[in-house]
This record gives sequence, structure tokens and C-alpha cells, in this order.
Amino acid sequence: MRLIIEKDYKNVSKWTANYIAQAIIKSEPTREKPFVLGLPTGSTPIGTYKELVRLYKHGVISFENIITFNMDEYIGIPQNHPQSYFTFMRENLFSLVDIKKENINIPNGSADDLEAECLAYEEKIKAAGGIDLFLGGIGSDGHIAFNEPGSSLKSRTRIKTLTQDTIIANSRNFGHDLTKVPKTALTVGIQTIMDAKEVIVVVNGYKKALALKNTVEGNVNHMWTCSILQMHPHAIIVSDEEATVEMKIGTVKYFKEIEAGNINPATQLYI
Ligand code: PGA
Repeated sequence: MRLIIEKDYKNVSKWTANYIAQAIIKSEPTREKPFVLGLPTGSTPIGTYKELVRLYKHGVISFENIITFNMDEYIGIPQNHPQSYFTFMRENLFSLVDIKKENINIPNGSADDLEAECLAYEEKIKAAGGIDLFLGGIGSDGHIAFNEPGSSLKSRTRIKTLTQDTIIANSRNFGHDLTKVPKTALTVGIQTIMDAKEVIVVVNGYKKALALKNTVEGNVNHMWTCSILQMHPHAIIVSDEEATVEMKIGTVKYFKEIEAGNINPATQLYI
């Protein structure tokens, strides 16, 4: 695992978007061989999406030959609901870049047969050749996608019940009314994420400090599902300084030193 520690959220977003841009450019995607990108929602990736849009507007990247698979979607609210992840993605990324509508995939939380929808989603990922790079965030309870504490580390796309922690955190988007927050969601599984060739997770703010500590310093454990990233051959966590406060000083120093000596082209920003 690489842990990139940037000064603040803005720099975290810039680093992450430029890293993704580099991965896209390197793969030279075509219609026949598209780049397959896994995407999250939530407040964390908004800055990265802004930077990706900027990179697109400056002509650094195009989404023309990119297929996307979103991590999750609420059950029980329609796609056109202001708080659906479908709406979030349209507003924060898809309507702002040249992605083709048919290349966008988001689990359908309104499907008549939700279990069939989950199986079909996994099949669609497989048919696209697997995910090249999965971008993610982590919840304060350590969830990655909606793989809440106690999720099987071998799980695949399925229905999950959200924890009270998550419902409270997400209620900020529902007028702080807990009764309005959907209690269940469709989510890719831990194994779905682990199958991606590369995983990059963005973490920022004090409220994520305990989750980051458990991801980096804890044991691999289903109660902190994000800790599974330790088992991924190409996992990168990009964090701001605030989120590192629960980690040992030695751990933070260690990862900073490694990165200082790393001649890594991804740290060269395109714009
Ligand atoms: P947040 O959520 O980005 O809104 O903090 C992250 C997550 O729950 O994965």
C-alpha cells in the first residue's frame, strides 16, 4: 500500500485527479479497448471530480473511451431524486465531460428484482474486462462503498443495510432528517473492489482519522472493511494531514519518507 499525505483537501484532490489522468493517458483507451473506471459518491470525491473536469476542459483527458461503474446506489428513492447517486454523478461529473451515456453504469436501486440487478452488475463489470482503477472513499466507520462493518471480505454486489453511523452521516443531505435517509443500498462488494487492477482511496478530515488508522495500522478485519486494502497489490490512499492524527508519528513519518524518495511521475501535476 502507498500512503500519500498531502497538506490539505485541495492538494489531495489535485494529486488524485492527476494520478487518474495519468492512468487513463497511459492506457491509451480506444473504443475497442476502453479504460474502465470505478467511481464513488459522497463529499470526499467532489474535489477530485472538479479537478478531473478541469483536466478534461484543458484537453489533458477525454472520457470518450472510458466506461464507468459506480460503487453504490440507494434503494427506495428514484433515479431522478435530488439525493440519488445517479443525480450526484450527473451533476458532479457526467454532465460536465464527454462521457457517452451508454458507458455509464450505476446500480439500479429501483430495479424490480434487486438480486438479479446485483448479479447483472457483476456480469457487466466482467464483460467490460474488469475495472482498471477503482476510486473510493471511506466512511467514518471504515466502510468502503457501502460495505459496512461485518461485511464479508469476499462479498460481491448485493443489498446492504446501512449502519446508524452512516445514516446519521448521510442525513446531512436529507435535511438532517434521519427518517428520510434510505436504510438500504445496492453496493459492490469488497471482492468486487479487490478485483480491480488498482484501487485509489481518498481520505480527508479529522472525522476519518480513526478509519485511516485502522486501514493502515490495524489488522485486516471485517469490522474495518477498509483494512482489506492491505491485501491489494496496487492500493493507494491519498490523505490530508488532518486525517492522519490518530496514526503513530512514526507511521506518518515512514510513509512521508518513502514518498519523498519516490520518483513517481504521478506527483507531477498536469495542470
Ligand atoms: P463522505 O463519505 O465522502 O461523504 O465522507 C465517504 C463514504 O461514506 O464512503
